[in-house]
Amino acid sequence: MPARDLRKLGDPVLRRVAKPVELNLVGSSEFQALVDDLIDTMHTAKGAGLAAPQIGESVRLAAVHVHDNPRYPYKPNFPLTVFINPRLTFLTDEEASVFEGCLSVPDLRGRVRRKMRVRVDAWDRLGQPFSVEAAGLTAGTFQHELDHLDGVLFVDRVEDPRTLTTWSNFDRFHREAFVVEATALVARWGG
Ligand code: NI
Repeated sequence: MPARDLRKLGDPVLRRVAKPVELNLVGSSEFQALVDDLIDTMHTAKGAGLAAPQIGESVRLAAVHVHDNPRYPYKPNFPLTVFINPRLTFLTDEEASVFEGCLSVPDLRGRVRRKMRVRVDAWDRLGQPFSVEAAGLTAGTFQHELDHLDGVLFVDRVEDPRTLTTWSNFDRFHREAFVVEATALVARWGG
């Protein structure tokens, strides 16, 4: 299956509230091809996750996969997981400020406060219901991807616009300090 074009900031599809997937259509070859495209596009772009609106489909479908990601080397690995019609529950009020980026917001990173433990209830690509908990940076990734299904981008949640930085300036001025913070978060919360 081909990787699709990534939709970028300013494309209205990123701002729509995505429609629920009809579960009786999950087994169709059309929907399965969409799931394959989402995964292939995420892998090609080296994203930690991707939501269907980012490939132009306004449906409640997202994927997360972290495997030694070069964009985010401090992120704990997380197996490939596909979420259909996910519902997010916060399991703690504790938050941390983490630098986020997004494949739909080229060359920009900024600090966002995210809850540090969440549960997601969803259906998998076979239409089976499942539940998964995540903590720390992975919990932040889940919140970021599910935000896309509500038309929300990380730039909407940036705690202070003065934390916005290009990737090269992140590497130059902010990466070293953030890796120390991220390592402490991983030690405290795990993945
Ligand atoms: Ni994103």
